[in-house]
Amino acid sequence: MSSSAPQQRPPGKVLNINNINSSVKAAKYAVRGEIAIKSDEYRDILARGQKDKLPFDSVISANIGNPQQLDQKPITFFRQVASLLENPLLLEHEDVLVNSLDYKPDVIARAKKLLADVQSVGAYSQSQGAPIVRESVARFIEERDGYPSDPKDIFLSAGASGGVSTLLNVICADSSSGVLVPIPQYPLYTATLSLLNAQCVPYYLEEAQGWSTNLKEIHAAHEKASANGTDVRAIVIINPGNPTGSTLTAEDVRGVLEFAAEKGLVILADEVYQTNVFEGEFLSFKRVLRDLQKENPEKFKHVELASLHSISKGMVGECGHRGGYFELVGFDDAVVQEIYKFVSIQLCPPVIGQAIVEMMVNPPREGEPSFELYKTEHVGIYQGLLKRAKALHEAFKKMEGVDCQSPTGSMYLFPTISLPPKAIEQAKSEGRTPDEFYALRMLDATGVCTVPGSGFGQRPGEYHFRTTFLAPGTDWVGRIVSFHEKFMDEFR
Ligand SMILES: Cc1ncc(COP(=O)(O)O)c(C=O)c1O
Repeated sequence: MSSSAPQQRPPGKVLNINNINSSVKAAKYAVRGEIAIKSDEYRDILARGQKDKLPFDSVISANIGNPQQLDQKPITFFRQVASLLENPLLLEHEDVLVNSLDYKPDVIARAKKLLADVQSVGAYSQSQGAPIVRESVARFIEERDGYPSDPKDIFLSAGASGGVSTLLNVICADSSSGVLVPIPQYPLYTATLSLLNAQCVPYYLEEAQGWSTNLKEIHAAHEKASANGTDVRAIVIINPGNPTGSTLTAEDVRGVLEFAAEKGLVILADEVYQTNVFEGEFLSFKRVLRDLQKENPEKFKHVELASLHSISKGMVGECGHRGGYFELVGFDDAVVQEIYKFVSIQLCPPVIGQAIVEMMVNPPREGEPSFELYKTEHVGIYQGLLKRAKALHEAFKKMEGVDCQSPTGSMYLFPTISLPPKAIEQAKSEGRTPDEFYALRMLDATGVCTVPGSGFGQRPGEYHFRTTFLAPGTDWVGRIVSFHEKFMDEFR
């Protein structure tokens, strides 16, 4: 410590935009960026009844995968159990619950079982998450993959985001550490790497092949970064993809695992959309890794895999409850201990969120009283998503200069747009990227809020936008179509 007198600050605020953490300033997260903020302003204007000020009468938040903001109803079983967890006094009136409120006996039984373990959802749980929940997660993974899973390898998290932050914090040692990230990608990854001042090593996905992984691209990105002195330590895979809406084939998954085994890379498998699959089949990285380890134990024995899941997506859509988990496979025990310490510093993930994780992985089974309603709700949400995805895709197919892969998974479409040179010039003159200009114009004209492709990354000279297909109805799809026609006419 210096012996000189402490430096006197000038009067006024301690913090200013030039002296705060520059990594925070460098991080970008377009999903809730300028266009989303503007859409909130429009929503406020409409809420104040000033409809004549805008050319639309509702704002459609197609920028974010937030199902219940867009009218997806919560699954009844989850919320009934959660209500009892929040207010256990209700359990003293089972007759009212059953006879007047139509709570089924399995709702009551589940609430009692969870409460017996966590005692109160107002209490901290174990840092790694409540044992009863981790046991259910492990059983779910076993049933899904046909391979054992151990509750001690499961870490519950505040959404998958909490898990990603934990893992990247531990993986990235310093500014030379690099992580291969798909482009386009969900910007949580680039933003977190920015915050950690670590290196994002981008690899492009193949749009023409349904946004699949291309091993040549991954190889080249790895080579280039390594040659530049980056210590590439991990590879992120998002399957099904965001923003791409793709579902990887078994070959793709195998290819990535082989590459990771050869190069010595940790795999971060972001599988939050595992039940949002419309074409093909979801294959977990864990299952394919175990298959490969059986076929070639020597080659795959050291592979380290962390796979993540969440209650925010799928038919659950409980984003606001912040629940998720990651499973660690093949990590060194001492590293696991540090991961444990890291999560302990945050004390524990939200306990209601943990309970919803438990219900997601262990929903009512056939023959149980809540099963029929659960199934009806689940299937209804799935069919609704599929219908809207197809309607949106059909609309995009008809739009001039728009090309869109068919939706095979997740909640998004990510069409590419060939923007006329005049539009590109106009965007430049306004100091915007062309896709930002397009998405902003769309918002101003229609009230539909999307995210420009640059927020996820795209090849130079290509332009995209991402929209969810969560919003109810199809009126907003029509709004996009007619906006696009006028836009093209204006700039053609
Ligand atoms: C690919 C992907 N991973 C992770 C997340 C984070 O989800 P949460 O933190 O709500 O679980 C999202 C959210 O949209 C996502 O799309």
